[in-house]
Amino acid sequence: MSFQAKLTLNCFSINLHSLLIKLCHTSNAKQLTLKIKKNMATFLSFSLLCFFFFIFFLSLCSFNGGTGGSDIINETCRKSAKSDPNINYNFCVSSLQTGHKSHNPTNLKQLGITAVKLTKSNASHTKSFIKNLLKNKKLDPFVKLALQDCMEVYSDAVDLLKEAIKDVKEKRYSEANIKLSSAMDSSSSCEEGFNEKKGKDSPLTKENKDVFQLAAISLSIINMFGGNGYY
Ligand SMILES: *[C@@H]1O[C@H](CO)[C@@H](O)[C@H](O)[C@H]1NC(C)=O
Ligand SMILES: *[C@@H]1O[C@H](CO)[C@@H](O)[C@H](O)[C@H]1NC(C)=O
Repeated sequence: MSFQAKLTLNCFSINLHSLLIKLCHTSNAKQLTLKIKKNMATFLSFSLLCFFFFIFFLSLCSFNGGTGGSDIINETCRKSAKSDPNINYNFCVSSLQTGHKSHNPTNLKQLGITAVKLTKSNASHTKSFIKNLLKNKKLDPFVKLALQDCMEVYSDAVDLLKEAIKDVKEKRYSEANIKLSSAMDSSSSCEEGFNEKKGKDSPLTKENKDVFQLAAISLSIINMFGGNGYY
C-alpha cells in the first residue's frame, strides 16, 4: 500500500514540478496561456497513466490477499514435501485443508498445532480400528499377536501425541519433536510386525502410512518455526 501511495505521489509531484519550471521560464502572456494549455495536456495524460498504475497495483494486492488460508497451507506443504521424501504434497494439502476448516490456522505455529492434532486423531482412530479387528474370534494367531502389539504401540502413541499438542502450544519444541518421532516409530513397528511372517499381509498398511506421514508433516512444520536446524 505505501509503495503505491508513494508512486502516485511521486508522479504528481514530478509533474507539478516540471510544470512550474516551464511556467517560470515564460515571459509573455500569450505564450504563457499556450504553455499552460500544452502542459495541462501532458499533465493530464501523465496523471491518467499514474492512475492506471495505481489500479494495476491495487488489483495485484487484492488478488494476493484474497486467497486466505490456502496460501499458507500450499506454501508450507511445498516446503515440507521438498525437504522430506516421506511427505507427499497432495496428501499434505488435503489433510491440512481438512484440519483448517475446524482449527483455522492463520500462521505457521497454528498450522503446526493443527498438524499434530490431526496426527493424534488419526492415531486414535487407528487404535479403535485395531480394537475392532481384535474382536474377531477367528483371527490367525500370528495376526492376533501382531494386532495386539499394534494396539499397545498405538495406545502409547496417542498418549504421547496428546502431550505433543501441549508441548507445541507451550513452545517445548524439542519435546514435541521426540514424541512425534516416537509416533512415527510406532506406526512403522506396527507395520513391520506383519512382515515378519511371509504370506501375512498387514491389514493396517494405509492406517500406518497415514499416521507416519501426518507425524512427518507435523515435525517438518514444527522445525520450520521451532528453528532447531533440523533442515
Ligand atoms: C493450493 O493447492 C490446492 C490443491 O493443490 C489448489 O486447488 C489451490 O488452488 C492452491 N491455492 C493456492 C493459493 O495456490
Ligand atoms: C487419517 O488421515 C488421512 C489423511 O488426512 C485420512 O485420509 C484418513 O481417513 C485418516 N484416517 C483415520 C483412521 O482417521
